[in-house]
Amino acid sequence: MKITVSIIKADVGSLAGHHIVPYELKREAERILIKSKEEKEVIDYYVTNCGDDLELVLTHEKGSDSPEVHELAWNIFKKVTEKAKELHLYAAGQDLLKEAFSGNIKGMGPGIAEMEFDERPSEPIVVFMADKTEPGAFNLPLFRIFADPFCTAGLVIDPRMHEGFKFRVLDVKEGKSVALSSPEEIYDILALIGTTNRYIIQDIHRKRDYIPVAAVSTTKLSLIAGRYVGKDDPVALVRAQHGLPAVGEILEGFSFPHLVSGWMRGSHIGPLMPVGLSNAKCTRFDGPPRIVALGFQLMNGKLIGPADLFNDPVFDEARTQASRIADYLRRHGPFMPHRLGADEMEYTTLPDVLKKLKDRFK
Ligand code: F6R
Ligand code: MG
Ligand code: MG
Repeated sequence: MKITVSIIKADVGSLAGHHIVPYELKREAERILIKSKEEKEVIDYYVTNCGDDLELVLTHEKGSDSPEVHELAWNIFKKVTEKAKELHLYAAGQDLLKEAFSGNIKGMGPGIAEMEFDERPSEPIVVFMADKTEPGAFNLPLFRIFADPFCTAGLVIDPRMHEGFKFRVLDVKEGKSVALSSPEEIYDILALIGTTNRYIIQDIHRKRDYIPVAAVSTTKLSLIAGRYVGKDDPVALVRAQHGLPAVGEILEGFSFPHLVSGWMRGSHIGPLMPVGLSNAKCTRFDGPPRIVALGFQLMNGKLIGPADLFNDPVFDEARTQASRIADYLRRHGPFMPHRLGADEMEYTTLPDVLKKLKDRFK
């Protein structure tokens, strides 16, 4: 059975600043999706939030880039925005950049990671959702999961993945992508994806049979809008087990709280902290950036679960490390490299300051 899993998210308003999506908004989204499920527009759905992002996990048989499914999500975000406005929530409708839906939600503001595949007899999937960061935040953990034997033992000892994986890397500035083969081309892959604000892992396939195994949302809000409209907080979907990385190998990729761009005003570098759903809220200096992992089983497209995978004391150490790194970085205040470079900041006064001081530079 060919199933599509679509994770579609948008920041359409939040409570107490850019902090969390309140229950009232999630209920509004669910109210619409109950009907969509009854009318068989989707097989199943799960609504949640990671910080200020409303997250819709949808399953259906309509394939990737389905205009019906994208329009459904768009209409939900529109409706939820109305509710956010009614409640005077903060930044209501922030990520909806267009007035009317035009066939595909990509480029309209919301983020989307989608994958269409033949559901295996038992199909474990992991849905990742991050807040206060950008899609390039997935480059390091996905490389570790699918190319680094020090993370994923199966690359060495499971014959079904020993051949490796194919990474499709998107150049967000040029809008072009390139498919690269691991392990043969890992140095080329790393040469690109180390530049996390430009080259982003878009999807990954297993080489032996070219089945899709991972997909990342690659929308760059700032490039779409040409101005600051909020960080393009990313989502990703990864299939697990039975000749693919085990759930534990996938989560291992996030045990090191690596540095990502985002955090306060989308203009800082900070550690990516893996958290359970109840801690998916960015508080200190609007952060540090958070990531949640939800595990589901598919049952003919129905979502069984979720398991809140980072809600586990084994990730306490990563969280403590992230807090310590946050402390250390915060002491740099307005200095780089804690603060991003001038052309990457989403808020800046530099052009105005330079203009004002023009005649005083001697
Ligand atoms: C970053 C983010 C927040 C806001 C900050 C200022 O992605 O959403 O850090 O940038 O809270 O928000 P405004 O300008 O709305 O007061
Ligand atoms: Mg936001
Ligand atoms: Mg957000």
